Amino acid sequence: MVFQQQLKILISRDEIAKAVSRLAREVERDYQDKQPLLIGVLKGSFMFMADLIRQLDLPLDLDFIRVSSYDAARESSGKVEVVHEMKTPVKGRDVLVVEDIVDTGITISFLLDYIKIKQPASLKVCTLTDKPSRRRVQVPIDYRGFTVPNKFIVGYGLDCDQKFRNLPDIYTLED
Ligand code: IMP
Ligand code: MG
Repeated sequence: MVFQQQLKILISRDEIAKAVSRLAREVERDYQDKQPLLIGVLKGSFMFMADLIRQLDLPLDLDFIRVSSYDAARESSGKVEVVHEMKTPVKGRDVLVVEDIVDTGITISFLLDYIKIKQPASLKVCTLTDKPSRRRVQVPIDYRGFTVPNKFIVGYGLDCDQKFRNLPDIYTLED
């Protein structure tokens, strides 16, 4: 059982809002005259996605994909599976993958291969947080909100065993 006392604030809702606006400006600039297809990685990215697209003045399309790689014990199994497929055709589209966090890089690396086969016109990655200290696979990150320390984080969509996704700020989970 995890108690609220184990949560220590890392990134406040105001800092998140500022980062989301900054990322939206970067994305807008790069996708001028384009109609990007944003693909959110469920479940963690749903809140970031909702805030990001409301800041994007672009004729965008939206879809979600759900993959599983983590077990309840917070460790990546190293194997990624598509649990819920996206329906939007990807061929010829300017695809932007939207993630909550890039940790080992295994999930994003898998997804980039998975989407590349479908022949998008372009393929980029936007992540709210990046935990480079745990990287096992090198992956390109085109848009990054925050670099976070080597701690497990929750809130703003990010969970621990499905809990804490509803918190408006991001916290570290202290042992
Ligand atoms: P990766 O495959 O190790 O890069 O992990 C990617 C996925 O693991 C993310 O999309 C998250 O769902 C989950 N994850 C990794 N680190 C954290 C964390 O600190 N808090 C919550 N979820 C995490
Ligand atoms: Mg995720």
